[in-house]
Amino acid sequence: MKNINKKMSNRLKMIAENVSNCTTIYDIGTDHAYVPISLLQNGVCISAFATDVKEGPLIIAKKNIKKYHLEEKITTKQGDGLDVIDENSDCIIIAGMGGILITELIKSNIEKARNINQLVIQAMNAEEILRKFMLNNGFTIEFEKLTQEGNKIYNLISFTYTNSINNYLEYEYYSSRYLVSNHNQLLRKYLQPKIKRLNDIIKGQVLTNNIDKNIIHVKNKLEEIVDGC
Ligand SMILES: C[S@@+](CC[C@H](N)C(=O)[O-])C[C@H]1O[C@@H](n2cnc3c(N)ncnc32)[C@H](O)[C@@H]1O
Repeated sequence: MKNINKKMSNRLKMIAENVSNCTTIYDIGTDHAYVPISLLQNGVCISAFATDVKEGPLIIAKKNIKKYHLEEKITTKQGDGLDVIDENSDCIIIAGMGGILITELIKSNIEKARNINQLVIQAMNAEEILRKFMLNNGFTIEFEKLTQEGNKIYNLISFTYTNSINNYLEYEYYSSRYLVSNHNQLLRKYLQPKIKRLNDIIKGQVLTNNIDKNIIHVKNKLEEIVDGC
C-alpha cells in the first residue's frame, strides 16, 4: 500500500506524531484527510472520522481515503465543529484553523470536549486566547510542540480535561509555560512575531492615548524570555 508520509509537511507530521494510541479519532476540519490516513497507516488508531463543515474538502478527503484503500476505516461526515461527534471518541484533532475559531468550536460543545481523553490542537494564530479559555475551563496542557516550515513556526498543544484550577499569569498565555520550562529550541523564533504584534498594538495605543499597561507588561516579559533563550 502507498504510504502517505511523503506528502506530509512538517506541520502535518507534527500533528500525526503527537496523537496518543487510541481507538477512534475525529479530525475536525480535515480538508485533505492526510492526518487520519497517516494515523491509520501507522496503527495509531483503529478507526477515524474525517469531518468538515464544507462539501468541497470532503470530496477531496473521500478521494484520498479511497486512494489509500481506507474506506472501511475512515468515515467522512459533514458538519460544524464538534456537533458531528456522536460516537465514543478518545481523541479529537483540530488543526490549521485560527485560535479564535477553534476556541469557539470547543466552547459550543464544551461537555463533549471534556469527555475526550486527548485534544490535539494546532492553531494558526491567537494561541493565547485558546490557552486562556482552555485553562479557565478545567483543561490541562499535557505538552506543546513547535515545528518550522520556511520562516514560519507552528505550534501544537495537547490538552486533556482534569478539572484543574488555572494558575497561569497573563504573559504565560502568550509565552507558553510548557515551552519555556522545556527550553524549546524554537521558542525564540516562536515569540519574536508575537512581540512584534504586541509592539504594533502598543504603538497604536500610544497614538490614541489609550495605553493598556497589561499589554506592556506581557510584551516586556516576552522580551525577557527571548533574551534568556
Ligand atoms: C486550512 S484547512 C486545514 C486542514 C487540515 N486540518 C490541516 O491542518 O491541514 C481548514 C479546514 O477547516 C474547515 N472548517 C472551517 N470551519 C469549520 C467548522 N466550523 N467545522 C468544521 N470544519 C471547519 C474548512 O472547511 C477547511 O477544510
